[in-house]
Amino acid sequence: MKAQEWIEGLPEQFVVYEITSISPSAYKGIVFTGMGGSGIVGDVLKLFLEKDGVAVPVISLRGYELPPYVREGWLLVAISYSGNTEETLSVAEEGIERGLKVVCVSSGGKLREIAQREGLDFVAVPSNYAPRYAFGFMLSAVMSLFGKKDPIERIRKHLEESKGEIKETAYRIAQVIQNYIPIVYGTPLTEPIAFRWKTQINENSKTLCYTATLPELHHNEVVGLDNPITRNLCHFIMLWDPEDHPRVKRRVQITEELFKELGLAPIVLQGKGATLEERLLYLAYLEDWVSFYLAEFYGYDPLPVKVIDRIKEALNE
Ligand code: F6R
Repeated sequence: MKAQEWIEGLPEQFVVYEITSISPSAYKGIVFTGMGGSGIVGDVLKLFLEKDGVAVPVISLRGYELPPYVREGWLLVAISYSGNTEETLSVAEEGIERGLKVVCVSSGGKLREIAQREGLDFVAVPSNYAPRYAFGFMLSAVMSLFGKKDPIERIRKHLEESKGEIKETAYRIAQVIQNYIPIVYGTPLTEPIAFRWKTQINENSKTLCYTATLPELHHNEVVGLDNPITRNLCHFIMLWDPEDHPRVKRRVQITEELFKELGLAPIVLQGKGATLEERLLYLAYLEDWVSFYLAEFYGYDPLPVKVIDRIKEALNE
């Protein structure tokens, strides 16, 4: 099965792209734009750059339009695996009109044509994958763009070494959450990965899944746990990182206690690895396998996303 082959091969997607790197401080701000399996790349890069202490604002944008304050002097990184996603193309065109420095990342499509037409920097990723299965290629391309080359090598080695253990853990998690709506809680550091869990479970396992993030979820979501009828339809997963803010870590403990009082057993996970990058990619790879096994248990082929294709066709009519 294609999906399994691609998930097996994720570690090998972490390769350094030999491209001229960009210094964030040369710009007034940075916008990443992309949707779905490409959009997640911007979320993760924003987090990595902020962890590195980036001195300018960084935005990860999903949609058709740039915010009004994004003007000349900003950098726009447009990421679309297919190169044909209309929201991403719209933002790229707007960025060109406003005089931003625009870099395009795709396997081809209209985004490559725009880059050629305008003489923009273009980073090509390998073609013939489904976008969400090319996450490692796209992330490596954008990390390389920002000169984060050592972490790419470390992630590759780490995922290769951890693959066996990740698959075993994923299988057990998929068994536990089967027949429930998975709810994935994140923290400020794990939020993009919690969102990736949701989207991969949606697309690969054809299953509803929702996320919420600490500390915000302590101000609303937790009250929703009062109702046992809806609570018991769900299984809860909580992703956190040792580098999270101390008060966030305390909130993770409190959440676990709350669950225990309700007789619920959340799956609490932190990524393994020496660095934040390694730990987050460990959790992302774990989720690829969880969503794969969950699809298998429900009898779905993880690959097709018919309704997404249908919507794109309807928009093109
Ligand atoms: C399909 C997938 C989708 C796409 C999204 C945007 O595998 O993951 O979420 O990523 O529809 O398309 P691209 O990535 O081609 O811009």
